[in-house]
Amino acid sequence: MKRTLGTCYYPEHWPRQIWEEDAARMAALGLTWVRIGEFAWSRIEPAEGQFDWAWLDDAIEVLGAAGLKVVLGTPTATPPRWVCDKYSDMFAVDVDGKPRGFGSRRHYCFSHAGYLSESKRIVEEIARRYGRNPHVAAWQTDNEYGCHDTVISYSDAARLAFRDWLHSRYGDVAALNEAWGNVFWSMEYDDFEQIGLPNLTVTEPNPAHVQAFRRFSSDQVVAYNKAQVDIIRAHSDAPISHNYMGRITEFDHFAVGADMEIATWDSYPLGFLEDRVGATPEDQRHFARQGDPDFQAFHHDLYRAVGKGRWWVMEQQPGPVNWAPYNPAPLPGMVRLWTWEAFAHGAEAVCYFRWRQAPFAQEQLHAGLLRPDSIAAPGYFEAEEVAEELADAPDVSHAQAPVGLIFDYDAAWSWDVQPQGEGFDYFALVFDLYRAFRRAGVSIDILSPHERQFDGYKIVAALGMMVMPDDLKRALADSGAEVLLGPRSAARDQDFNIPVPLPPAWPELDVAVSRLETLRPDMPIPVAGGGAIKNWFEHLEGGPESVFETDAGMPVALRSGKTTYCGSWGDDAFFDRLVKDLTQRAGIDVLNLPKGVRVRDTGTERFWFNHNPHDVKCDAGDLPAAGVIREALTR
Ligand code: GAL
Repeated sequence: MKRTLGTCYYPEHWPRQIWEEDAARMAALGLTWVRIGEFAWSRIEPAEGQFDWAWLDDAIEVLGAAGLKVVLGTPTATPPRWVCDKYSDMFAVDVDGKPRGFGSRRHYCFSHAGYLSESKRIVEEIARRYGRNPHVAAWQTDNEYGCHDTVISYSDAARLAFRDWLHSRYGDVAALNEAWGNVFWSMEYDDFEQIGLPNLTVTEPNPAHVQAFRRFSSDQVVAYNKAQVDIIRAHSDAPISHNYMGRITEFDHFAVGADMEIATWDSYPLGFLEDRVGATPEDQRHFARQGDPDFQAFHHDLYRAVGKGRWWVMEQQPGPVNWAPYNPAPLPGMVRLWTWEAFAHGAEAVCYFRWRQAPFAQEQLHAGLLRPDSIAAPGYFEAEEVAEELADAPDVSHAQAPVGLIFDYDAAWSWDVQPQGEGFDYFALVFDLYRAFRRAGVSIDILSPHERQFDGYKIVAALGMMVMPDDLKRALADSGAEVLLGPRSAARDQDFNIPVPLPPAWPELDVAVSRLETLRPDMPIPVAGGGAIKNWFEHLEGGPESVFETDAGMPVALRSGKTTYCGSWGDDAFFDRLVKDLTQRAGIDVLNLPKGVRVRDTGTERFWFNHNPHDVKCDAGDLPAAGVIREALTR
């Protein structure tokens, strides 16, 4: 399959007279895909049951006639005013019990039965009309589930649905009381009808209650998406996707992705650096115009797994955005670098958001490939450069990486529910290890927590995965790979209780976490030989060989055979040592990379990326600022 480019277009924002020219310019630029429709409900159905298809028929025809393939979005992220008037209680409710309002987007609660049926109706209408349209070559459901903090809703609809969900899980309320430990603080229930949502309590609610609500909230997203997918599929053979986001963990993307052919995500490297990466102030300055060197890569690898191998970037930042604390312009060359980086991680397509900057409404200051006056913006020329380079580039390819890293959304919720100290978060832990492998030049596959087949991996890591089913433990123990666990791996049972024997209770590893402490950021514990425990320190007891120790001689990581349990969250220097130790044992080649340089192997090429604002020298030669080197690999 060829690597392709595309863009996001809103014909309803522009006069009809310029559509042909827009379409011709997109095709001339070398774009293949154009995503449309995802916010256009008020123009498709201006009043209940009154459809205006003419403009959308026309737009699809114009784009298709220019040789473009259309990705058609369902418009359910933006219910028009009349839908909200019809269901005045369809809004999500925040943790303080306040309903959210109309006037932007994503203003619905996943549990609202009326809105679900309204969504199914509009999706049915659109899928029936365009399901066999030759120009509609892919679909997108809704837009960015989870954006603007919209997964968790404390609405009446959610409360009723949650009770049903609990009923079907636990069968009878005595079993729920027992599983959750409701005897503590006399929290026992006599009936499922008494169970509320875990907000507005006097102090913290029972973690088992909160974790159940988090799982339920995720399931609501999965069910909502599947309802759309089932309808589209009945009318169309084109692949279906959803555009996920960066560092959104409120729903299980693997479960949503299981129902669709392709995963896509929206990559805004400069926006993320300011607002989601967690970079130091020094790195925020250094990478201000380039973005974090690992954050996009992490999500490329994550969504490749969510898409079961098939994934795109549906929205690629083309210039300054409007929504981060500061919104600098990318360094010249970065739009090209980001595009190639996605291809290096196996993307089938990269689509730029958006075609033309809108002179009205919320995103006036968000760049497009074109300025509002239709003159090409700087990002346009970089897209053009990539389009030319793609002409003789190899096809999409991915080779299994030597390292597999499990990412588990359920664990992310567990850490949220019980962080045991400020700033502890599962994503940050896994990302810290991911970055350490990347600093060593190692390519990584992110794996679903349901993976049981680890053939071909030399190292598999499952940090912080608080619930680990026995068959996963067994599969890892039998995998033949170096297995890295901890901190907090297998630390809870399914109902958020500490198991006895104490965690991790691992086959063939005589280690128990006897106690744990979290540390203030200004009191790291030095590790003998270099690096430090940053903030999370488990005291380990047991027989095996200790691989790292604190200066004071307490074990930091213990190992038996090929299984290593590391009970601490290390700083970069310590995680670098851990990675060095594991890669040496596993026989994986590492590279000595300058800061900000990253490498990624596909089946056919090795890519070198310079994320620095200055030139560097590396093993592949001179790399200019924002430079990319592609080397053919002979395996
Ligand atoms: C995404 C969203 C787009 C647009 C973009 C701006 O989150 O899907 O519709 O708002 O951000 O950066």
